[in-house]
Order: sequence, then structure tokens, then C-alpha cells
Amino acid sequence: MIEYQEVPVDRILCLRHKLLRDGLPAESARFEADDDPQTVHWAAVVNGRVIGCVSLVLQALEGQPAWQLRGMAVLQEFQRRGIGSQLLRRTEEHVIRHAPPGLIWCNAREQAVGFYQRHGWKIISDRFDIPTAGAHYRMLKRLVPAHESYPPGNPV
Ligand SMILES: CC(C)(COP(=O)(O)OP(=O)(O)OC[C@H]1O[C@@H](n2cnc3c(N)ncnc32)[C@H](O)[C@@H]1OP(=O)(O)O)[C@@H](O)C(=O)NCCC(=O)NCCS
Repeated sequence: MIEYQEVPVDRILCLRHKLLRDGLPAESARFEADDDPQTVHWAAVVNGRVIGCVSLVLQALEGQPAWQLRGMAVLQEFQRRGIGSQLLRRTEEHVIRHAPPGLIWCNAREQAVGFYQRHGWKIISDRFDIPTAGAHYRMLKRLVPAHESYPPGNPV
């Protein structure tokens, strides 16, 4: 059974390093905002083993208060089973419920763009390179609480 847990960053550093910083020093898997009080880390865990992770940090986007999704990764042999989607859902729910609500963005690796698009994210930049990680696109999703998605006075 797969469990989804909010975890301290130390639980996910090893997976982050393997999937996203392979060949680089271990410290490269640490992000500046990892220990900020508002930062949240989630893990997908099978029999005590972390097989997926994602982090959410408060990071403005072009002057607008926003959350940045970082470090999304699922171990290769567990990919395409919906685990990334479950982790993504947790970040989006957090952004709906916590100030500043509504805006989430990320720098998506080119090969992961389809994953985010599948969940309603939009590309908002040209392709750009991050030297240690290759081609990326900046992507964004605006989220609204479910009760705000219907016209006032017309609850469903
Ligand atoms: C991107 C990643 C997190 C997706 O996790 P996952 O658990 O495989 O994703 P899911 O199984 O929830 O995928 C849901 C849907 O997203 C789409 N999708 C998933 N991975 C995709 C990819 N690499 N390219 C295009 N579409 C993708 C598919 O439509 C998939 O549904 P399907 O399998 O029914 O076709 C995972 O592939 C991964 O860790 N990749 C390596 C590290 C990485 O690139 N991380 C992203 C950094 S920005």
C-alpha cells in the first residue's frame, strides 16, 4: 500500500538526489527554502521506503504572492501509476487552503511538461536551460476553492 505523508526534508533528500541531482554532490539536493517555516514536504511511502516526493515553498512569481512546487520525483519503477498525480494533488490542495491562496508555479523539466499539462497547468515561458538539469519551461496553475467555482447564489 502507498501512503502519502507530510515529512521532514531529510526523509526525501536521498530520492531527490537520485532522481533530480544524479552525479552531483549530495548537498545539491538541498534547496534554499527547505527549512523555511512555511515550506511543506510530502513523501509517497511503500513499506517504509520513500518512492516519491514533492515540496512546496512560498516564492513570489513576478511580484505576485505565490507558491512554487519543487523537487517532484517518483522512482522510475513506480512511475505511471498515479503517484506523481497524488503528490501534485496534495500541493494544490495546500495552495487552495493556505495564504497566499490560488497561485502555484514551477520550473518544469521538458520531459515532465506533459505531466503538468495533464493536470491543467499552463506553460508561461519560452524554453530555458538550467545548466545542471537541462531544458525547462516555467508553468503555472491558478486554483480556486471549489465553492468559488460556481456563480454566487447558485450552489451546486
Ligand atoms: C514527472 C513524474 C513526477 C510523474 O510522476 P508519475 O507518478 O509517473 O505520474 P502519474 O503516473 O501520476 O502520471 C499521470 C499522467 O501524467 C502524464 N505523464 C506522466 N509522466 C509523464 C511524462 N514524463 N511525460 C508526459 N506525460 C506524463 C500521463 O498522462 C500520465 O497518465 P497515463 O500514465 O495514464 O498516461 C515522474 O515521471 C518523474 O519523477 N520523472 C523524473 C523526474 C522529473 O522529471 N521530475 C519532474 C521535475 S519538474
